[in-house]
Amino acid sequence: MKFFVDTAEVNEIAELNDLGMCDGVTTNPSLILKSGRDILEVTKEIANMVEGPVSAEVVALNADDMIAEGRKLAKIADNIAVKVPLTWAGLKTCKVLSEEGTMVNVTLCFSANQALLAAKAGATFISPFIGRLDDINLDGLDLIDDIRTIYDNYGFDTQILAASIRTVNHATECAKIGADVMTAPPSVIKKMAHHILTDQGLDTFMKDWAKTGQKIL
Ligand code: G3P
Repeated sequence: MKFFVDTAEVNEIAELNDLGMCDGVTTNPSLILKSGRDILEVTKEIANMVEGPVSAEVVALNADDMIAEGRKLAKIADNIAVKVPLTWAGLKTCKVLSEEGTMVNVTLCFSANQALLAAKAGATFISPFIGRLDDINLDGLDLIDDIRTIYDNYGFDTQILAASIRTVNHATECAKIGADVMTAPPSVIKKMAHHILTDQGLDTFMKDWAKTGQKIL
């Protein structure tokens, strides 16, 4: 499973990128707001740093303007994936930009039927939002499972980009289901390294090592 980092914070992306834990980046208008940066500037900086796809989201609501915004965003760098919402206008934009050779990430997906439409419109990525379904007492992971089944049934190339990942369990379950990519905040990716038994075991080793009186360096 590829790891995309869901943030527009350049320093956090750099740390994960240096570790080989960043196969791409996803941003959205809320993350741009949080970063306090100009969308064109920060997207360029991220796209220059990271080899993989960097999603930058359009904000127009009609197809003509979405297409124009998408074309402008796509010019930032070769690894830009234009992110469009899963609306009818977003699907039209997806079709046009995909045919022009631009990667398209169709976002705000909350149903298997929406994912089916995105694949038929030529999406490179479909972004089902797990956490936001869990928020309303539905099971976001069931949606990932359904989309995996449907895409595999028909051999769609569209990659399942599991989004709105809030917990380390979301990450594990997405990997078990076979999501192609997960996009998660840096904090969740870092938490995947934690285990209480690792901490306890290390503590014991350190205490015993101190008793030996030895040094390696
Ligand atoms: O990738 C989508 C993500 O940024 C949304 O996450 O936690 O706001 O639902 P969240």
